[in-house]
Amino acid sequence: MEIRVLSGDIAQQPVDAIIVNLFEGVTEPGGATGAVDRALNGALRQLIAEGEIKGKASEMTLVHTFGRIPAKRVIVAGLGKAERFDLDRVRSVTAESLKFARQKGFKTVATIVHGAGIGGLDLRDAAQALAEGALLGLYRFRRHKTGEQDANELQELRIVEFHAERVQSIEEGVRVGRILAESTNFARDLINEPPNLMTPVAMADAAARMAQEVGLECEVLDRVQMAELGMGALLGVAAGSHNEPRLIVLRYKGDGAGKPKLALLGKGITFDTGGINLKSSEGMRTMKGDMAGGAAVLGAMRAIALLRPALEVTGIVPAVENMPGGGAQRPEDVVRTMSGKTVEITNTDAEGRLVLADAMAYAKAQGHNMLIDVATLTGAARTALGPKFAAGFARQRELLDQVIAAGEREGEPIWPMPLTEEYTELMRSEVADLKNAASDPAGGAITAAAFLAEFAGDTPWVHLDIAPVSFADRETAYHPRGARGVMVRTLATFAMRLAAS
Ligand code: BES
Ligand code: ZN
Ligand code: ZN
Repeated sequence: MEIRVLSGDIAQQPVDAIIVNLFEGVTEPGGATGAVDRALNGALRQLIAEGEIKGKASEMTLVHTFGRIPAKRVIVAGLGKAERFDLDRVRSVTAESLKFARQKGFKTVATIVHGAGIGGLDLRDAAQALAEGALLGLYRFRRHKTGEQDANELQELRIVEFHAERVQSIEEGVRVGRILAESTNFARDLINEPPNLMTPVAMADAAARMAQEVGLECEVLDRVQMAELGMGALLGVAAGSHNEPRLIVLRYKGDGAGKPKLALLGKGITFDTGGINLKSSEGMRTMKGDMAGGAAVLGAMRAIALLRPALEVTGIVPAVENMPGGGAQRPEDVVRTMSGKTVEITNTDAEGRLVLADAMAYAKAQGHNMLIDVATLTGAARTALGPKFAAGFARQRELLDQVIAAGEREGEPIWPMPLTEEYTELMRSEVADLKNAASDPAGGAITAAAFLAEFAGDTPWVHLDIAPVSFADRETAYHPRGARGVMVRTLATFAMRLAAS
């Protein structure tokens, strides 16, 4: 879909539908909605008076214009209560109105920037949220459906602003929003891809292709190279699969003088059967999405390459399949990590922390002094938080708060979780330095984080457990069913803010 920003009168756009909005409780619409109402001889005010249009959040009303203006139809999108309005509602209302238009078969639509009038939002921010909502909301994964390739897609979105001097801010916002949304959709595509096709090698190939397109340096390590580095934990997980593991490394080199060298690490388990501690059928459902953290890191690196912050950032994704098999690791095995610490395998299904432990050691060996990892790490995080918040952990609360703030800005909520030495005690092993799963499942998200913390050591580090939010069974405003592509926008926004700080 093409997005164009232009100055003019939205009521005069010759498109299939124009989109205007209304706050709940408003009876005399102003701004663009008022102008369209006047062009329609008061039709919108009449529908409001009759109770047909209430302005409730998610309410979409289709009004035909019968030749009174060039556009055949007007969509009045409800914004909900003015006091609850924010950037995330801009994303949602944009997504919902455009999905409504697409479902009606419209090809060209014009919209105003929701929230930049009486909504009181910053124009550039609102325009960014609008572009995000549009591209995230219209996303569909149809790669494997034959014979309906371009069916029913919106072709053009015009963002119309009355005042010409405001167009430039809108264009800037749209540029950033487009990069963040398209990078999220890139991640969603990787996650939604079936696991027979999205193997570790395929994930590395996709990363290399993307790196080429946006100008990132890409290095991919194979099993032999990882063995030379001593990545015994990662290779232990890989041992049960016929699909070869890969360590994907993407480097972005902005001018980072005086700034931390940031490493983004993402769990890239392309399918998690649980290994010898095999999951149940129900437990395996959605486990093609166990590389969502890795996909988030690849998506964030894509966005960073295009947004060009003054910072050095490296994306590191251990891509591995966790399978049972003759060569698979067993419960009670002991592996040696790249850091030198040994780990007793008490549960082969606690594999994410094992591949991340070696990825973190690699990041530190490469001179990185700030680490953020993203992982679908534990079912316990979902049990604790339900489907709305990711779990955030850190030993440095200030750094975690900065990541949480970036998440709030992008509509990706993160809740801070406790992490103290008491939990580390639960991860000590009788036969090795650590065990990979605590004997008691209680507090499973925290004990997993405590395990990772041992590998972060003194290096500033944040761990995001996205198991609660990475996959959706139901469609919501700007998230389809399946992969949500979370944390691409949060990580990229965090990097932009770090560069600017
Ligand atoms: N990939 C799973 C965690 C998961 C579960 C993500 C559900 C998304 C939805 C992870 O590898 C795992 O199996 N964790 C175990 C850890 C346990 C064995 C200590 C879990 O959560 O049960
Ligand atoms: Zn597992
Ligand atoms: Zn897993």
